[in-house]
Amino acid sequence: MAGIYLHIPFCAQACHYCNFHFSTTFHSYRKEMIDAICKELTIRKEVFDNQSVATIYFGGGTPSLLTNSEIDQLFDAITRNYNLGDLKEVTIEANPEDISMDLLKHWRGKGINRISLGVQSFFDDDLQQMNRIHTAMQAEHAIRMIQEVGFKNFSIDFMFALPLLSNEQLIKNLERAIAFNVPHISCYNLTVKEQTALLELIKRGKIEELSEDKSIQQFELIMGKLADHRYLQYEISNYALEGYKSIHNSAYWEQRPYLGVGPSAHSFYKNSRTHNVRNNKKYINAVQTGSPFYDVEELSERDFFNEFIMTRLRTSKGINIRELELLFPKYVRAFKDKTSDFLRGGQLAFFGDEYRLTKAGKMVADYVASEFFEV
Ligand SMILES: C[S@@+](CC[C@H](N)C(=O)[O-])C[C@H]1O[C@@H](n2cnc3c(N)ncnc32)[C@H](O)[C@@H]1O
Ligand code: SF4
Repeated sequence: MAGIYLHIPFCAQACHYCNFHFSTTFHSYRKEMIDAICKELTIRKEVFDNQSVATIYFGGGTPSLLTNSEIDQLFDAITRNYNLGDLKEVTIEANPEDISMDLLKHWRGKGINRISLGVQSFFDDDLQQMNRIHTAMQAEHAIRMIQEVGFKNFSIDFMFALPLLSNEQLIKNLERAIAFNVPHISCYNLTVKEQTALLELIKRGKIEELSEDKSIQQFELIMGKLADHRYLQYEISNYALEGYKSIHNSAYWEQRPYLGVGPSAHSFYKNSRTHNVRNNKKYINAVQTGSPFYDVEELSERDFFNEFIMTRLRTSKGINIRELELLFPKYVRAFKDKTSDFLRGGQLAFFGDEYRLTKAGKMVADYVASEFFEV
């Protein structure tokens, strides 16, 4: 079971916190970019050895900026080159201001069956402070349209620990989503990334420093509130009602192969990772002229082990000791030795064959994982 990720590196406006790869001045070369992504899909069609593709994910950037004919062109390139006999899930990330009935109907017609909508907050103060284009009202309208067109499987992204978001407002955000019966919710802790306007604004004292206490408190509130409403926290940042886990994202956490196309996209197949160049013009030029546009990193057994620990620990299933014994016999002894402190300290619990993070463990997930890493 394999996946395809398409990175659409266009945004209408830069959100203050975001350091994903995107450009806001893409209009003069958008055709060349879509042609290049299609060409990459053709060039790399052998990576799965005709293994069937189960999931496709349009991410970004802002894939909802694609016109209907650009979407058609990308779908053509995929269907011409890949085995889609077992296709299960096709997701597109969307910004609320782009959503229209026409767009949604076109997506549905193409076989897109999951939408990930970037709501972030239902409070306009948060949206304005973070330089989002949309308003809370547009986000609500987008959700209604998504439901009206008949998309059952969709997700919304929220951010928490935003400087202006009080605990009461956070709960109101969640209640709004619950009232809409949104089947999947991602909640991301706002982080200050390098080379973002947010970092500059904090440095200049225009936005207050983020509070770690607030982020811990809000994370706990989210876990409690969503558990009360039957959402399973199947990964640290992801909550789903029964039957609505993201298949594509779950495949990342289970180390299944995927091909990422477009500038900055990375891939994982045949024991290696590849990273595409993170520059739009360089990417287009290299793809057009047949020059290299990605580097290849061969993964060692130790790299695999560390990644396995990091990703599995973040999921609700946790680390299955039988699987660990099978995949990494050489590291099992050290792993088991290190679990005892965390079991005693209450960050880990052991269920059947699985080591899972407790609520307290989820607060320090990255630290716990790093303690198990082989160096
Ligand atoms: C890269 S965006 C792409 C989706 C779409 N363009 C949008 O803005 O909704 C995916 C999600 O990552 C999250 N995100 C991006 N930067 C973040 C940051 N610095 N801290 C926390 N979450 C972040 C946001 O919730 C966003 O919806
Ligand atoms: S959060 Fe989304 S819309 Fe905002 S800059 Fe990042 S990718 Fe673009």
